[in-house]
Amino acid sequence: MDKEIINNAVAFVRNTFKDDHSGHDYFHTLRVYKMSTRIAEQENANLAVVQLAALLHDVDDIKLSPETHANKGRANAFLRKHNISETMIKTICNIIDEVSYKGTDSITPKTIEGMCVQDADRLDAIGAIGIARAFAYGGSHNRIMHDPEIKPTENMNEDEYRNHISTTVNHFYEKLFRLRDLMSTATAKKIAEQREQYMKHFISEFLDEWDGIQ
Ligand code: ADP
Ligand code: NI
Repeated sequence: MDKEIINNAVAFVRNTFKDDHSGHDYFHTLRVYKMSTRIAEQENANLAVVQLAALLHDVDDIKLSPETHANKGRANAFLRKHNISETMIKTICNIIDEVSYKGTDSITPKTIEGMCVQDADRLDAIGAIGIARAFAYGGSHNRIMHDPEIKPTENMNEDEYRNHISTTVNHFYEKLFRLRDLMSTATAKKIAEQREQYMKHFISEFLDEWDGIQ
């Protein structure tokens, strides 16, 4: 893929996310771009499709841009402007539709390229970065860190996942500890194992400190 298109896409997302501090920021997209490239190289996926889908995966996010969410207006406009073929635009937009985590409404992508992007996006929700993003998200949505009286909710659909009232510690049980098993590629599963262990260690320390044991 023409390096210039990638550079322009990087500049486009930097500008799109310049005011977002809720976890869907420019650096999240950049990490997903790098990680999906790493996975795609291991899995022999089409790099151009993976890289463009990764860079554009959040520009029409429902929270950031509700008016262009359904038709992927921003991603489409960017790709058209750079003379990407209609077939490739369709492939990329399908991947973007498949990628997001929606509780029990989540889907497994149909293509290896989609799997690479979804796995990379999910890897960014776990490990040290995942912990930081969860607490940043909780803070920006006025959620409390922890309340032993509020129990995690199992098996939420998209609406419940987005709207239920819970704590940030519960988010680990409701989503983050589930992601390892939901990885599609062998490359991502391996990375997820180490990141999950790190998060489990963190939560165990957190709860021990909460109880004054540690
Ligand atoms: P996606 O990247 O699939 O669109 P989300 O928008 O659901 O994911 O989440 C963005 C980031 O915020 C992720 O790191 C996610 O784990 C975190 N997050 C989402 N919902 C919560 C929540 N209720 N509490 C804490 N962190 C959350
Ligand atoms: Ni994302």
